[in-house]
Amino acid sequence: MGRQILVTGGTGYIGSHTVVELQAVGFDVVIIDDLSNSSAEVVDNIEKISGIRPAFEEFNLLDSVKLEAFFVKYSKIDAIIHFAAFKAVGESVEKPLAYYRNNLVSLMNILDSMSKYKIQNLVFSSSCTVYGQPDQLPVTENTPKKDAESPYGNTKAIAEEVLRDVVKVTPDIKVIALRYFNPIGAHPSALIGELPNGVPNNLVPFITQTAAGLRKQLSVFGDDYNTPDGSCIRDYINVVDLAKAHVVAINRLLENSNTERYEFFNVGTGTGVSVLEVLNTFEKATGVKVNYQIVARRSGDIEKIYADTTIANTVLGWKAETSLSDTLLSAWNWEKKIRKIK
Ligand code: UFG
Repeated sequence: MGRQILVTGGTGYIGSHTVVELQAVGFDVVIIDDLSNSSAEVVDNIEKISGIRPAFEEFNLLDSVKLEAFFVKYSKIDAIIHFAAFKAVGESVEKPLAYYRNNLVSLMNILDSMSKYKIQNLVFSSSCTVYGQPDQLPVTENTPKKDAESPYGNTKAIAEEVLRDVVKVTPDIKVIALRYFNPIGAHPSALIGELPNGVPNNLVPFITQTAAGLRKQLSVFGDDYNTPDGSCIRDYINVVDLAKAHVVAINRLLENSNTERYEFFNVGTGTGVSVLEVLNTFEKATGVKVNYQIVARRSGDIEKIYADTTIANTVLGWKAETSLSDTLLSAWNWEKKIRKIK
């Protein structure tokens, strides 16, 4: 049996794709998820893709009694990838305490368990949100962090500081934080993908739901930004490519090839793409027209951000591979599959 990896939030969007990639290279995966934003069916679909059913335990990581029992039952875990968190930016403004509690206490419980059960390796799900609107583009790992735009973003910034400080005084623990840019797309099998709750906040699920007829019209938030076509610029990273970055990070920790015990990497494509470019690329890739209108800017949106991925490319030896067009097509195939569109 391969080395055992605990994936918290393993039935979620990025988590489920990462489970599949871990299994593909022989890791034995155990998932903890409370299914607050996913469903148990994802476990079946992971099994359909990989042919291997990951172990699955359903509970919330704030429940330290269940977490204790978990580590007693699974005593051979070599590393943890911690995805489980709340992630809706707008909701976090409404419910800051819920976000701080859920996202930070779960991390602290995981760190306590790592010390207690002698688990050395952790990969943490961070975000480019820690950079805010940077003064210089592209952003490198050394670009100064800015105040977070939302409580959600702040949980990621604080979590990174918690990790840095804990690693300093806990010689047995090593951490890699991956700062994701904008993850999009779905597994090429169309068996797993993003399943937003209610009306999507994010661009690509809104595009695919509009294309599928669930939404009347996409609102493009602003065309008066200081960008070539006036719409905001982001770095959209294919979710399978992103999942593979986690496998590379896990191998780096397990092989002890990390030079520092706390490292962080930008995980993006390195290319900035505007909202209107995403829309045009989607229409070309799928042949489906998307009804849209330009509306006012959305509050809290930053104008442009994209990654300098040199360090991830050279130090991790990881690179985004999938084109935007193929990624958007995968998102559409997933949407068609869940809506039963031919
Ligand atoms: N957009 C639209 N219409 C929509 C949805 C989005 O025009 O219906 C635009 C946004 O204004 C933005 C771009 O599409 O310019 C991307 O928006 P998303 O909501 O998809 O992504 P964000 O960059 O706003 O948010 C992402 C992650 C968050 C994270 C944030 C900052 O989803 O988790 O980056 O790092 F906090």
